[in-house]
Amino acid sequence: MLKIAVAGATGRMGQLTLKEITNHPEIEIAGVLTRPSNPLVGKDAGILIGAQQLNLLITDSPEIAFKDAQVIIDFSLPEGLEDHLSEALSQEKPLVACMTGLTSKHQAALKEASCHIPILVAPNLSFGIALLKKFIQVASKALGPSYDISILEMHHRQKADAPSGTALSLAEVLKEDKRFHENHPPYPSKSPRPPHTIECAVLRGGGVVGDHAIIFAGEKDMITLTHRVLDRSLYAQGAIEASRWLWGKAHGLYTIDDVLEVTS
Ligand SMILES: NC(=O)c1ccc[n+]([C@@H]2O[C@H](COP(=O)([O-])OP(=O)(O)OC[C@H]3O[C@@H](n4cnc5c(N)ncnc54)[C@H](OP(=O)(O)O)[C@@H]3O)[C@@H](O)[C@H]2O)c1
Repeated sequence: MLKIAVAGATGRMGQLTLKEITNHPEIEIAGVLTRPSNPLVGKDAGILIGAQQLNLLITDSPEIAFKDAQVIIDFSLPEGLEDHLSEALSQEKPLVACMTGLTSKHQAALKEASCHIPILVAPNLSFGIALLKKFIQVASKALGPSYDISILEMHHRQKADAPSGTALSLAEVLKEDKRFHENHPPYPSKSPRPPHTIECAVLRGGGVVGDHAIIFAGEKDMITLTHRVLDRSLYAQGAIEASRWLWGKAHGLYTIDDVLEVTS
């Protein structure tokens, strides 16, 4: 039996993750954490999945939420990470950091903590995106410098960070090819596109779960590789897979590619 605590449990992804755990008889919800001002603190966590009593109270204390857990899934926002990471460190519990929009300070804190506990940083938990990264590396190499590369992402209107963590990680993968030197910001209206740049465009609207398209534009043809998430619970499943994988690992900093064993 794997015991998982979920941080950010009152949010969209937190609730889906709790629900998803209940589909796995071999996994137990061991802690349900939200932030101090949340009105659901002290209520039974069953309220979050519209179901039976879970006999587990929603808490705002990372110490209480993590104490019976073997792995922590953090689906809060970057603002929550510091407290959650510090408690995970003091209890020596593995942490799956699922939030996006982490700053370089957050990244440094995760790296430092990974000298003591296993940490998996997963700004996108879908297998499809991991595969897409491989596809775009192949396409970029095969098509060569005469093709301009643009990344277009669209998410729901409430998403706070832009470009998405996934779009940035797709750009990073492309930038492993040294001919690209930086992401290209939105154009000044009358400038031509500078060479060796990766353009990243952002759309926000409605309830779009997560669309990423990589466009290779040449003089005479254009290739577009697209990944579209149809159901947000895909990420919850990914978080559970990641937790299962992380449990029992040595301290260190891992990514979703390690979990999925996507090879070239
Ligand atoms: N890795 C992936 O594949 C993936 C997929 C989807 C989303 N995400 C990311 O996951 C994060 C959560 O997404 P969401 O859609 O579930 O967001 P959400 O609905 O806004 O939920 C955020 C959760 O974090 C809590 N929270 C906010 N500020 C906090 C703080 N300072 N300390 C502790 N907890 C805090 C919120 O509490 P309240 O309920 O009180 O506001 C809520 O429980 C985002 O960063 C999103 O971009 C990642």
